[in-house]
Amino acid sequence: MPLMTTKPMFDLAYDGGFAIGAFNVNNMELAQAIIEACAKEQSPLILQISKGARKYANIRYLKHIIDAAVEDHPELPIAIHCDHGDTLDLIQQCIKDGYTSVMIDGSHHPYEQNVKETADVVKAAHAAGVVVEAELGQLGGIEEHVVGLSAADYEKNLAKFLTDPVQAADFAKRTGIDSLAVAIGTSHGAYKFSKESKLAFDVVEKIMKTCPGLPLVMHGSSSVPQEFIDLVNKYGGKMPNAKGVPEEQIHMAVTKYGVCKVNIDTDLRLAMTAKIREVFATKPAEFDPRNYLGPAREAITSMVQRKLHVLNSAGKMEAVNKRWEQLGRPLPTFYKK
Ligand code: G3H
Ligand code: 13P
Ligand code: ZN
Repeated sequence: MPLMTTKPMFDLAYDGGFAIGAFNVNNMELAQAIIEACAKEQSPLILQISKGARKYANIRYLKHIIDAAVEDHPELPIAIHCDHGDTLDLIQQCIKDGYTSVMIDGSHHPYEQNVKETADVVKAAHAAGVVVEAELGQLGGIEEHVVGLSAADYEKNLAKFLTDPVQAADFAKRTGIDSLAVAIGTSHGAYKFSKESKLAFDVVEKIMKTCPGLPLVMHGSSSVPQEFIDLVNKYGGKMPNAKGVPEEQIHMAVTKYGVCKVNIDTDLRLAMTAKIREVFATKPAEFDPRNYLGPAREAITSMVQRKLHVLNSAGKMEAVNKRWEQLGRPLPTFYKK
């Protein structure tokens, strides 16, 4: 049952030229599609659950769905991660729910408050054998509870939102985090750039130097493939000017600059929405949810498979499992009861 923390994954990804895909789960179809894709591609994976997903699906249901997925594919290295946790209370709940990894996102707070809240979370999580991701700098786009800037306004003021490499070193040292989400010009959602995609890879290079050994995470890494936007728009949707991070740039971030974890949600939503719209538009008499959710699930599976190749993580399952064995099969205390 290789349910694990992200440690064995990042140990290999750090200088292995690949990254672990962290895919957001909100319901059964998403969980099944992601697992199916990773099983087909023999890839390690992170299933991540946002606060909104906990609320939407009721975490009790979601956790059982994820447990079923883990049971279905005991060969796959899987981490269960809290995406954008915002309070110690929520993190403690996630630890009790059996997550193996948590994110505390204090990036919108003043620096000292971010340090304090993150350090408190690290203390609680590490005591339970759970690893911690934190964030420094600010992303654009939509984030729950955070007022997002438009792509144009974010781009105009980008310099002031980017992660400061010197501050990152201080932050890592004072908090004891296991990985760091960096702001390098990406945004959440489907409208990331008003013109061309421009990422600050020089900032990644600098942070790799100021924080040697610390795995870096890229949020807002959907590519918003044009063919899916075209499908959505063709079948009655309205997503003008949607733009993501080109897949070549994600691939470069992973293979050249050493990013270890790449967060993808929007592209799964797009695949699902495009397919459902297509079924509704081409088969207007259809009303059996299985006949639109089924094809949507297949579309998500293909999308995830495509991502696993961009991240170069296809085929890395065995190596990660071996690393987990070498480390003595570390698991949160939740699973040792
Ligand atoms: O970072 C945001 C993720 O895409 C999760 O989005 O809060 O709408 O579930 P959500
Ligand atoms: P996207 O909106 O680009 O898919 O980013 C998702 C994300 O960062 C989740 O934390
Ligand atoms: Zn995010």
